Amino acid sequence: MSLPVARPDPRESRPRPRRLRQHTNPLAFQGAREPPDWHAVMGGPPEELEIGFGLGELLLARAAMRPSARILGIDVRWAYVERCREALARLDRPLPHLHFLHAEGTLCLREWLAPASLRHVVVYFPDPWFKKRHHKRRIINATTRGLLVRVLRPGGLLHVATDQQMLAAEIMELLTATDGLRNEMGPGRYAPHAVLGARSGREADHAARGHRIWRLLFRRTGSPA
Ligand SMILES: C[S@@+](CC[C@H](N)C(=O)[O-])C[C@H]1O[C@@H](n2cnc3c(N)ncnc32)[C@H](O)[C@@H]1O
Repeated sequence: MSLPVARPDPRESRPRPRRLRQHTNPLAFQGAREPPDWHAVMGGPPEELEIGFGLGELLLARAAMRPSARILGIDVRWAYVERCREALARLDRPLPHLHFLHAEGTLCLREWLAPASLRHVVVYFPDPWFKKRHHKRRIINATTRGLLVRVLRPGGLLHVATDQQMLAAEIMELLTATDGLRNEMGPGRYAPHAVLGARSGREADHAARGHRIWRLLFRRTGSPA
């Protein structure tokens, strides 16, 4: 199998930023407004999604372990997309079922992905946006929780991890009160360990420093069609 060729992107010739700002405001996202042709870029519509893949470690490892699942990563930072595409192109064993896309989570969940199409959605170490007036920039918020329910298949899983206790508690409260999701661990409980079989960059960093990680695992309710 050969690597799918991503659509040419005019930003490909942009100079690489020397330093990345700590957080990018997703509400000011200027990138794509239309989805790509899923068949052209990854052989069909995505079945697994990571929102905010950063340096892509989790998806590169997971795609190598799961050759039959079409896996999409989206991130609002073009520099990360570029780096991950380069890493993908350098692999000895191509992963044509993995695609890194420059896209914004809310738009993608609302308009680009088909209802009940995903088995897994992963949100690892989401930007915390601590100030109350910035909460709407969080990727898991009062609007996106319903969109997450929309794209997950019945039985599908939402995985969230963070090193921020307060953020974990707020996400726990929000998801617990969301129709269509059930905490896989029981009400109010965090998952004791990762179940994806691969780690994100942040996750590995925090684990190496002995930091506590709060993990949430919610299942989409309803019977699989
Ligand atoms: C703290 S990093 C975590 C990266 C990676 N998940 C990890 O665990 O190493 C958060 C990532 O989410 C991305 N991001 C934030 N809001 C987003 C949004 N609305 N849509 C897509 N990506 C987003 C950021 O650009 C950043 O790469």
